[in-house]
Amino acid sequence: MIWATSPACTELETHVLDWLVEMMALPEKFKSTGTGGGVIQDSASSAALCAVITAREKATNYRSNARGCNGELVAYASAQAHSSIEKAIKIAGIGSQNLRLIPVDSEFAMQPEALEKQITRDREDGLLPFFVAATVGTTSSNAMDPLKEIGELSRKYNLWMHVDAAMSGTAAICPEFRHIHRGVELADSYCFNPHKWMFTNFDCDCFYVADRSALIRALSILPEYLRNKATESGAVIDYRDWQIPLGRRFRSLKLWFVIRHYGIEGLRHHIREHVSIAQEFTRWVEADEKFELAAPVPLNLICFRHKAGDAFNQELLDRLNRTGELYLTHTRLRDRFTLRMSVGQTNTTLAHVQKAWDKIRSVASEIESEGWDK
Ligand SMILES: Cc1ncc(COP(=O)(O)O)c(C=O)c1O
Repeated sequence: MIWATSPACTELETHVLDWLVEMMALPEKFKSTGTGGGVIQDSASSAALCAVITAREKATNYRSNARGCNGELVAYASAQAHSSIEKAIKIAGIGSQNLRLIPVDSEFAMQPEALEKQITRDREDGLLPFFVAATVGTTSSNAMDPLKEIGELSRKYNLWMHVDAAMSGTAAICPEFRHIHRGVELADSYCFNPHKWMFTNFDCDCFYVADRSALIRALSILPEYLRNKATESGAVIDYRDWQIPLGRRFRSLKLWFVIRHYGIEGLRHHIREHVSIAQEFTRWVEADEKFELAAPVPLNLICFRHKAGDAFNQELLDRLNRTGELYLTHTRLRDRFTLRMSVGQTNTTLAHVQKAWDKIRSVASEIESEGWDK
């Protein structure tokens, strides 16, 4: 819970999170040697909550913890942002009606012009814009929000920018995919989940802040029974002040093992392999006249559908999942039922995905033969 109860737990976590900044070419300010630092949370949802609470405190001159909020704070995220952002806004007492979902472009990325318009309108209405969540790889569509443009608006209007890169962030281990982070140097906080795409057992979310003092000031609480000499020396990190719970697990150990086991080159090899398999699947979908892509495929998530319509696709999904041979999830993109294939499991190979595609096509043919597309 605190440094004194397990110095190794804290020290290894700091060390591994600093390693990851270097491995992924994240901004130096996220390292513990600068003004910021990283901490392992259970999930991206918890990271978003910590970011919102810190942003709320900062925007209210560190008064909201004591006095509560008066409903004037306004937050922003794209219409494709994960539901965890809305959950964080609700839990942090901002009120979900004070979360503005900004429209997206043809590739499902947030439109910065629409964000600026909304911020201006809210300011004119006497409200206080304080937080924006930008996503690198949205859940439904794998869209990449324009971090640079959103970051510049955050600076201009004094908003906290949190970057949610839950699944896709891992791709930055490969230099050729680092363009997904263009503008991340403007972020106040950032998170990605090694438990999604870095071969680490659930749960493990790496959460970084540029200014750790703001996070600690927002979350710190010191009852008598936690007082100790190490904390009072000011020379150690007490991660209890960087998260919601007090007690914590030794999650950095498994992350350390993963990094030691694969090495940077090994991790890159698997990430590249998954992206290449996903791109191959994309070509199969494009080449099949009965199927279509529903969104661009920048990395490892393919959103696609059969052209026969929503009911057909729902039936296709249900039948495929009933086979027990593969499991697909769905979403709605532009209000159309869409299937999602994600390639990211440690041992997934092209042969598995080829088998899945064969199954998808054969089950689709079976449904067609029953007259569904007529
Ligand atoms: C973009 C994004 N953000 C956040 C989450 C939530 O992740 P967690 O389960 O770690 O809270 C997800 C999960 O799918 C996600 O895709």
